[in-house]
Formats: sequence, structure tokens, C-alpha cells
Amino acid sequence: MPHDIHNDTPAELSADEAALLREMPALSDVGHARRTFMMQTGGSGIGLFAANLLATESALAQLAPVSGAASAPVVAQNVVTINFRVNGAPHALDIDSRVVLLDALRERLALTGSKKGCDQGQCGACTVLVDGQRVLSCLTLAATLDGREVTTIEGLAKGDQLHPMQAAFIKHDGFQCGYCTSGQICSAVGMLGEAQRGQVSHVTENVGKTPTRLSDDEIKERMSGNICRCGAYPGIVAAIQDVHSGHQSAQTWGFATEAQLAMTTDEKKEDGHATV
Ligand code: FES
Ligand code: FES
Repeated sequence: MPHDIHNDTPAELSADEAALLREMPALSDVGHARRTFMMQTGGSGIGLFAANLLATESALAQLAPVSGAASAPVVAQNVVTINFRVNGAPHALDIDSRVVLLDALRERLALTGSKKGCDQGQCGACTVLVDGQRVLSCLTLAATLDGREVTTIEGLAKGDQLHPMQAAFIKHDGFQCGYCTSGQICSAVGMLGEAQRGQVSHVTENVGKTPTRLSDDEIKERMSGNICRCGAYPGIVAAIQDVHSGHQSAQTWGFATEAQLAMTTDEKKEDGHATV
């Protein structure tokens, strides 16, 4: 049965309740006040947002546009000028004092052979040589290199003549995807220089004696800062041993000849395997 509200007997109010009821605003006033409050709040919020947006746009508008830039350019701060040599060529760069060598090489000099793996000194993909010593370019401030000589993977070969370490990596199949390879090769070149200068490692048996012949364990330890996600380590160690020993060991792999490829294709046809 529907409840008829108009037939309800008015509730009896105490004196306090009656006084409170008289002080309360009418419902229409409450709605108006609420709407006014919401509009004022929203207005001030949007005002703040708009002010921030305008400030941001005004800051961005002051930046010089860069043709072909994929993202908004960043204003350089604390600019320093460095004069250094990279792969034998002199360079003068006006550079933000916070820029690391890896970014300077890749973004300013278009030398993209050095790779950015972890960007925090953990993988070795960015290894280059500074005055012949291996450094992690992602942890080296470019501003510290005034007057220094930097060698990257692009500078190891002499024209068409590969550096012996590059040739050995190819010969021993010391890579798969190749992402770590430039760092591995630069690191290996720097590492052999360290060994020649008599530096010992954690696994050197007699630290009082200059190691003249590096064992595989020595090479693995000294190269442990260069990670290879493809796991090409056996080939990497073999390549470094090749250069270190000076003994040209036989290449362990070769491209298939036309005849071998044709034979493989024929065998697959006989097996009923589809060829691609
Ligand atoms: Fe420099 Fe990984 S990118 S160590
Ligand atoms: Fe792929 Fe080393 S060859 S990470």
C-alpha cells in the first residue's frame, strides 16, 4: 500500500529542534550556494591550470626550434666549451656541463657506434677509449675531456683495414645481435693495453709479477664489465686471445658455398621439408 506522506502526523519538535529548523536556510538557497561554491572552486582551479599552461607555453616559445626534432628541445645550461679530438679529428663543442660523453658522441657528433645499454655504468655497451684507456662514456662528463683524445669504434679501423680486434671478433664469431660489440671491442683493446702496462686483476695469481700471458680466466675477469645478452662470450674470449697471443688461430666458421647451399636444399626436398 502506497505511503501517503501528507497524511503523516507532524512530528513533535523540541524547543531546540524548532530553533535549529528556523536557522536552517531554505532548500533553494542551499542549491544556489552549492552551485556558486562549485563554480568558484572550478573557476579558481581552471585559473591555476591556465596560468601554469601559459607559463609553460611561454617558456617553450622561447626555445629555438630544431628541424626534424622528435621532441621538444632542452635549453642548455651552464654551457662550457670543450676542445678535444675524436678519432683523430679536432672538435670544439659548446655543451651543457651535465652532458655525458656518450650523448655528446651520439647526439652532437653523430657517432652512433657507441651504444646506450643501461645508461648507468652496468653493461659496458658505451665503452670508448680516452687517451688509450677504456672508460664508460655514459658516466663520463664531456666537460672533463678538454684537450683529451677520444677513440670510438668508428676510429679503430684504418680506412678499409679493420683493427686486429675487429677482425678477430669476426673470425671467432664473437657476436650475435652486435649491440654490445662496439663496447666489447673498445674494452678489449683498452684491456690489453692495461695488461701490457703490468696492471693486475682480481684473478692474477702472483700480483708481484707482471702478467705477460693472459689466461682465459684473466680475460673473462678483466672483461667482466662488458655484458653480452646474446651470450657470445666463448667467441669474445677466443677473439681476444687471438690478438693477445699474436697466434692467428684458424677461423672456426665460414659462409656456406653455393654448392653447400644447393646440397642442403636438395636434401630438404628429399625429406619432404618445405624450403624458404
Ligand atoms: Fe654505459 Fe651501460 S650504457 S655502462
Ligand atoms: Fe648481442 Fe652481445 S652480441 S648483446
